[in-house]
Amino acid sequence: MDLPQDVPLLWVLRDEIGLTGTKFGCGIAACGACTVHIDGVATRSCQVALGDVWGEVTTIEGVGTPEAMAAIQQAWVDHQVAQCGYCQSGQIMQAASLLAENPAPSDSDIDDAMQGNLCRCGTYPRIRAAIHTAAKLMQEA
Ligand code: FES
Ligand code: FES
Repeated sequence: MDLPQDVPLLWVLRDEIGLTGTKFGCGIAACGACTVHIDGVATRSCQVALGDVWGEVTTIEGVGTPEAMAAIQQAWVDHQVAQCGYCQSGQIMQAASLLAENPAPSDSDIDDAMQGNLCRCGTYPRIRAAIHTAAKLMQEA
């Protein structure tokens, strides 16, 4: 792929590769809709130039171990988290990164990790509940 090295990763994912699960929200690192993992760490893809990508990129289309994603998906369904859904791929990427590093997060751990992911539909209480449920499901698996 012959692209300028200063193109944001988000554009590459969506417009060049066609992975449209990652969303454009603000373009200024203020919403979290564009969150992907780079080497497993939640990262705002609107802020990373193609030439600066330092590791393996994972998007919502391929995130997590089957067990972890099954738990997160089940928890999201159980709590009926999504409303319009626009922010949710970013929310799930952030949550998956949190759960990978902290398998039993407290409310304040969750609030700290998720504070940069905005939801104009106000699903924050359900996101927090779903992360607790996902953590429990992962421990039981
Ligand atoms: S689009 Fe990247 S943080 Fe909003
Ligand atoms: S579910 Fe609509 S913006 Fe979050």
